[in-house]
Amino acid sequence: MNFCHNDVKWSDRKIDIAKLDFFRDFFRGTATSAYQVEGGCDHNDWSVWERSFAENANPRIKGGQKPGLAVNHWNRYRDDIDLLKQTGGNAYRFSVEWSKVCPKLGVWDRRVIDHYIGKCAYLNENGIKPFVTLHHFTIPGWLYEPAVYAMMGWVRGIFPPGKRDPCLAARVLNNLLKAHFQAYHAIHETDQSDADGDGVPCKVGIIKNITIFDPARKWWLPDWIGAKILHRLFNQAVLEAFLTDRFAFNLKNIVNFSQEVPGLSDTLDWISVNYYTQYFCKPDRKSDFKIKMYPNQKTAQTDMGWAVYPAGLHRVLQMIRLPGVPIYITENGIATEDETLRQDFILKHVEATREVMLDGCDIRGYFYRSLLDNFEWAEGFDKRFGLYHVDFDPQKRPLKEGVQIYKEIIHVPGHKK
Ligand code: BGC
Repeated sequence: MNFCHNDVKWSDRKIDIAKLDFFRDFFRGTATSAYQVEGGCDHNDWSVWERSFAENANPRIKGGQKPGLAVNHWNRYRDDIDLLKQTGGNAYRFSVEWSKVCPKLGVWDRRVIDHYIGKCAYLNENGIKPFVTLHHFTIPGWLYEPAVYAMMGWVRGIFPPGKRDPCLAARVLNNLLKAHFQAYHAIHETDQSDADGDGVPCKVGIIKNITIFDPARKWWLPDWIGAKILHRLFNQAVLEAFLTDRFAFNLKNIVNFSQEVPGLSDTLDWISVNYYTQYFCKPDRKSDFKIKMYPNQKTAQTDMGWAVYPAGLHRVLQMIRLPGVPIYITENGIATEDETLRQDFILKHVEATREVMLDGCDIRGYFYRSLLDNFEWAEGFDKRFGLYHVDFDPQKRPLKEGVQIYKEIIHVPGHKK
């Protein structure tokens, strides 16, 4: 892993799709998560959150929206998998909703387990590799984007349980690391041979969301320190725990946590990154950790207010490189209604991936998020990340132009079907 500040120069030259032939022998897919697409996820911490209000009496989710049926993926997953197949995708990342699998402590719902088994079987029949996320924010859970989960729920307070306490966030992260350690061993004990018939036991790893934090003014030391602190807390602390078997989360006068997690460094069969954006940082007394972060106003912005920064994907891939550990990009995507911008975003991020692979990095797959427009957590339904546009009523799914570019990339000449 390389935590140095290694800015890369990104030229905006025209990208030649024919050169993106690295997609052969590569997992090319899309990603979703249960709460955002399935519908009927009404027995978890988020369903309580949906109905609650902040101290200022505003609903927790924008406009008081609730996912309800979401995009009804629970009932329509076969149609959705068919859509993915039409793009030429050969991998699908989805999450398991544990509040459905285990609605009460000690009660397991066989019907739900069969549903997920059926989904995997349908994917396999269609030549699409299932990538299962064990924890995508809704609890009970295991390890998924641990830093996003802890920061949004325990530092910024905009995800459940709505706390604003960095010391608690440190404990939450530490517990997630321990949970990952236990899940890793439990899964390997259960699947010692070949549960899904592909000839190899299940592979287990973590998904780390990495955001690029850069100084707002490159010539101003306090901005560098601000960027370094956020990078350390959000990116480096968790990654480093997998090198040192120790989780350390420290910031003078605010939080001071350090604990050993023995054996953690032996629990990565692969590592993956979810990458979206870059923030500029500068000191600011009123912000969390006393550092203000904001998007570069000089580049295109997504509807989430995030700067489009493909060079950042270069940087995060270099950051998580570990000898002998394959890498996946399990989320990369854009909320926009401007399909030209979506096309440009996909092309440039795929090209960034290619360049890092040419540099010898063992990257095994790229998942665009999301297959479909979906329920965007605290933002509700307004933000459109999907390759397929969803008319939530009456649930039509016309193809967006953005998907065409993904199809073209996936079908580059010479790629093995
Ligand atoms: C989450 C996704 C979410 C995306 C965009 C990621 O951190 O894993 O569920 O939709 O960010 O906000």
